[in-house]
Amino acid sequence: MNVTESNSFLPSELSRVVNADRLLPNQPTLSIFFKGDRDTFAARLETVTNSVLSVANLRDKWDLTEAPSFSYEALGSDLSGLHFLQVLVRLGNVRTALEVGTYIGVSTLFLAEAVGPDGQVVTIEVGEEFSEIARENFRRNGMEARIELINSDVASVLPSFTSAGKAFDMVFLDGDKGSYGVLFEPLYTILRPGGLMVVDDVFCNGDTLNEMPTSDKGRGVKALLDKVAALPPDHTRVILPFGNGQLLITKPE
Ligand SMILES: C[S@@+](CC[C@H](N)C(=O)[O-])C[C@H]1O[C@@H](n2cnc3c(N)ncnc32)[C@H](O)[C@@H]1O
Repeated sequence: MNVTESNSFLPSELSRVVNADRLLPNQPTLSIFFKGDRDTFAARLETVTNSVLSVANLRDKWDLTEAPSFSYEALGSDLSGLHFLQVLVRLGNVRTALEVGTYIGVSTLFLAEAVGPDGQVVTIEVGEEFSEIARENFRRNGMEARIELINSDVASVLPSFTSAGKAFDMVFLDGDKGSYGVLFEPLYTILRPGGLMVVDDVFCNGDTLNEMPTSDKGRGVKALLDKVAALPPDHTRVILPFGNGQLLITKPE
């Protein structure tokens, strides 16, 4: 059997596929066998991705007070992203995690569950109302012993961490995108050797795909991306193009 015969179930268009054609599941190449209506693709994708999760609705997992101003879906991480954080924590045997951007504390709860009873999550949130709601959510879900919430601007907190010689196994950056560029070095400094940095929303709703980002947020994320691109090759890193883009960087031992 020659190569063409053994792959005869594959449409001939696939022979012309380039890498950019297969980044996202809804691109024609990767959805070639989907028989449903295109309008139903996202819903079917969600059904299948959620089907393997331990819980398909975060409100079934956690007893949550939500912010009156925004729905969780407007500001918080998506369900797969939250479970992905837990996989990373378990994979990296993370015991200490730093989160920038708590919002109402949902990603913090996922991190706290994954680090286990002996682990510690420090989370920084500038908003007072969000901090109060998050604290309440930690209490209601019995996680307050594993979580330290600092209600402050991250930029004013990091110098004290550096001078105290703090070192985290994992840093999850999910705060104001406009300051990603200036936060990268101080956060990388307090990541322990061998640690993992996760940066959320690196596509910035499409703005970082422009040659020149058009918003302060986009410019902030682009500044971080440029710094990461300039790291030596032993700082292994990847952007996973799911959701709004997740960047992972490992710091060499
Ligand atoms: C995208 S939300 C975080 C979502 C949360 N990590 C989750 O997935 O459930 C970003 C949060 O960062 C907070 N934030 C923005 N600028 C900040 C700063 N300079 N310092 C600390 N927190 C900040 C915002 O108030 C907001 O609650």
